[in-house]
Amino acid sequence: MSVNALFEDIFRGRGWAIVDADHPDNLRGLNNLILHSVDDISGEKNATSEIESLRRTMHLLTEDKINTIKSHSYVEASEILACAFPGTISGLSGNEVFLQRRAHMTLNVPAPPGGRENNRYLPSLSHFDSMSGISPYTVTLWVPIHDLDDDTGVWIIDQETSMEIMNAERRNGRVMGGDILAMNAPRMEKRVFARMTYGQGLVFSPFCLHGSVTNETERARICFNTRFQSRNLPLHLRTSDYFSCYDVPKAAVPAGITS
Ligand SMILES: [Fe+2]
Repeated sequence: MSVNALFEDIFRGRGWAIVDADHPDNLRGLNNLILHSVDDISGEKNATSEIESLRRTMHLLTEDKINTIKSHSYVEASEILACAFPGTISGLSGNEVFLQRRAHMTLNVPAPPGGRENNRYLPSLSHFDSMSGISPYTVTLWVPIHDLDDDTGVWIIDQETSMEIMNAERRNGRVMGGDILAMNAPRMEKRVFARMTYGQGLVFSPFCLHGSVTNETERARICFNTRFQSRNLPLHLRTSDYFSCYDVPKAAVPAGITS
């Protein structure tokens, strides 16, 4: 798929695509940020020196340690993502963009032995990102720091179906009513769970419904996501507190769009 085809797909077509990192080695920086955050909270060299073993043991951490990992600032993460996917960003939004100041780090942690009582296990409810004040021109880049071969990541619905689902609720006087939140609105079954190998990311428009489900596996899912848009297009409510200027290196071309 060409850059133009990706642009069409995101802004006028399905609304999402899985893309290859142009510089996948840069993603190691994200893995190191997570591993260092675990070192920080353990106060000693942590035995879980690799992401895979951390994923398998994260559910054993206490809630305050999970919260410490979640609340780490990860100030470098957004630029690391941009350096890994410059061709995708420039192909969708040009070389002069607004880039989210701080990437979000999201975890989907399995239940600890013996219980599921706490908020750790709440999935991310159905929503589309333009609900939260980002402009219609802002694109999300969602990147796991490991292979993602199960349903613990993000599910997504193409933007046309997403808007049909929302319009059906509006016609019924039920905008953001229980149907969508309960995941039983007509056509919600069209959701697709993103599957990726390490080094790939999901890009999607702010009009694609998406969310996550409870992690029933043995391993935590760890992801970073950031947002970007052209500096030549209008911002909405999210402005300088949320975005900063970023110039994509001019030579950037996308490595490939695989699905
Ligand atoms: Fe979202």
